[in-house]
Amino acid sequence: MKQGSDGVKPRAADERAAGKPGCGASSCAACATAAGDGFGRAPCAAAPHPEQCRPELRRAAFSSPLPAVKHKLFVMSGKGGVGKSSVAVNVAAALALAGHKVGIVDADLHGPSVAGLLCSRAGVVGVDETSGKLLPAEFMPNLHFISMAAMLRDRDKAVIWRGPKKSAAVLRFIKGVEWGASDYLIIDSPPGTGDEHLTVLKAVPDILAVMVTTPQELSLADVRRALGFLKAAGGKILGLVENMSGLNCPHCGGDIRLFKKGGGRLLAEEYGIPFLGEIPLDPAAVLSADLGRPLTLDGGDGAAERAFAALAGEVDARCRAGVAVDFAARFLHCANGGCGV
Ligand SMILES: Nc1ncnc2c1ncn2[C@@H]1O[C@H](COP(=O)(O)OP(=O)(O)O)[C@@H](O)[C@H]1O
Ligand SMILES: [Mg+2]
Ligand SMILES: [Zn+2]
Repeated sequence: MKQGSDGVKPRAADERAAGKPGCGASSCAACATAAGDGFGRAPCAAAPHPEQCRPELRRAAFSSPLPAVKHKLFVMSGKGGVGKSSVAVNVAAALALAGHKVGIVDADLHGPSVAGLLCSRAGVVGVDETSGKLLPAEFMPNLHFISMAAMLRDRDKAVIWRGPKKSAAVLRFIKGVEWGASDYLIIDSPPGTGDEHLTVLKAVPDILAVMVTTPQELSLADVRRALGFLKAAGGKILGLVENMSGLNCPHCGGDIRLFKKGGGRLLAEEYGIPFLGEIPLDPAAVLSADLGRPLTLDGGDGAAERAFAALAGEVDARCRAGVAVDFAARFLHCANGGCGV
């Protein structure tokens, strides 16, 4: 361990204040035990550094980097193509329509969809001369977004970046943008659980995950892995959404269960996570995506449109009530039997 200038080992609290969670001593018996559980924390009050046992204290060591943003949401799945970006954009648009000030961060650097879903040809990312911060592109006066696709001159160009560069870009999108006083910042994630996700969770410790899945086992399996990732990273979760949940046949009105139905709700029950709603498959969702105009702005009563609007209402109600599940704490299991969890 690094010695302080006075030759004394820095205390755990000093290290935490320096942004380093945990006691940082690889030789510490308690923390070595904790590291062994795969979640990097000492779970027991009997340990010499009990703060580590308490996620809320650990989190308190980091203050939010976006104090002017009331609610931060992280749309995740595990798998690509399940509707994360569609959920992010439609929920954002519905919230904006209801009068909230909303920002969207497109953290999917390799497959940025947000700009296209918001017909971004009109959207331009600028730079604030005085602060040097980026000014997000505007879709509506109270709905702004930042996306790689709105920054690249050649929109067809692939972004070929390794981890550190990607993390730096995601951080810049979050901290280096003039989001101002906002009600919601919604971060649309790439599939999987990689550098971008870790960066977001570390940079915005009070962010709440909205997990998106299709009812198909292939997607549910990835969501289980994503939940394991959240648990390991100490993330909080607002709830789970089942997208592509059945399809009303446009010809006869029959219920077609293309990707099955109900798997998301069962998974939410299994993990004790709030179930936020079902979005059916709807050709109107595909059309609106290609037009770059979120369904929820149209004020119609199509199946997906109503479901997205209901989802936004559910998200808003839960955020205001502050009813997120502290997922990490729920699944904290104590190796030493002292923390009572
Ligand atoms: N409820 C839905 N009904 C019909 N098509 C949908 C629905 N949700 C998403 N899609 C379509 O599925 C594709 C993948 O959605 P997208 O939001 O880009 O997923 P992800 O961000 O998870 O990769 C897009 O073509 C989108 O328009
Ligand atoms: Mg996407
Ligand atoms: Zn039919």
